[in-house]
Amino acid sequence: MGTGELRTVGRQEETVMNEIHEANRKGWDAAALAGLGQADRTIDWRRCHRDARLVFTEQELKWLGNVSGKRVCVLGSGDNLAVFALAGLGGEVTSVDISQEQLNIANKRASQLGLSIAFVQADVIDLSPLDSKCFDVVYTGGHVAVWVSDLQKYYSEAARILKPRGLFVVNEYHPFRRIWKESKHTLEVAFSYFDRGPHRWDRSEDIPGAEPGSLPAYEFHWTVSEFLAAVVDAGCELLLVDEFGDEPEAWEIAPLAGLPQFLLIVSRKKECPKT
Ligand SMILES: C[S@@+](CC[C@H](N)C(=O)[O-])C[C@H]1O[C@@H](n2cnc3c(N)ncnc32)[C@H](O)[C@@H]1O
Repeated sequence: MGTGELRTVGRQEETVMNEIHEANRKGWDAAALAGLGQADRTIDWRRCHRDARLVFTEQELKWLGNVSGKRVCVLGSGDNLAVFALAGLGGEVTSVDISQEQLNIANKRASQLGLSIAFVQADVIDLSPLDSKCFDVVYTGGHVAVWVSDLQKYYSEAARILKPRGLFVVNEYHPFRRIWKESKHTLEVAFSYFDRGPHRWDRSEDIPGAEPGSLPAYEFHWTVSEFLAAVVDAGCELLLVDEFGDEPEAWEIAPLAGLPQFLLIVSRKKECPKT
């Protein structure tokens, strides 16, 4: 597959992809039940609805700061910090994740914070529980695309639920950071930038009490041009593409300082998209 090309998948391949997502869902449910689902970030969830700057970068806030009174959907909501922050900014927020256990934790937290949020369990490549053309803003990112077997379907579904001229904001961990071995002092390539995966690993190693091998996890690697192509092919026009941040993150093992941290893509759904 050449850079920038996205494949249309056949029925058999689609079944395999669904099985992969199902395996990932089980892994996220198990992680959430073990109290690990929200472990990526050290931000206090109790404060995000009061200070969106804890969650979003300055670049993101330029586009998301103005959500008051608007219908906003967060796809692959995970720790739901983005959801709480957007609700605190006055958005009417729907939180979508494949893991019901992740959503259950977020739901309890939302009640404690007095936030009214709609929680929807769904796969981002099939958002059929959500109507077309009903959101003003769709936000997604922070390590979601890596779990998704079909980037084109994911972003096409995001565009489908947006109103015409609605804003689609993607802020993903930059793909340049994904390809390295976990060696502490040297940068050594673990797999080619053009190897989309799936890369299988055993999640049970991270989950206390889980049977070894019982929780296979599958990750995908999308290139920068594939992210852009998927947004444009979903019927959105690009408003901004930005790469920023070059600090190491606390959980990263390889010495990644100097490589871009974030890939931000801001787009608007066309008035009459072709699909
Ligand atoms: C690393 S978190 C990223 C979300 C958020 N930025 C965070 O830091 O928690 C990944 C989330 O994506 C969800 N996810 C994985 N595959 C998904 C899919 N196919 N559809 C919807 N959500 C998915 C997982 O359940 C998990 O909550």
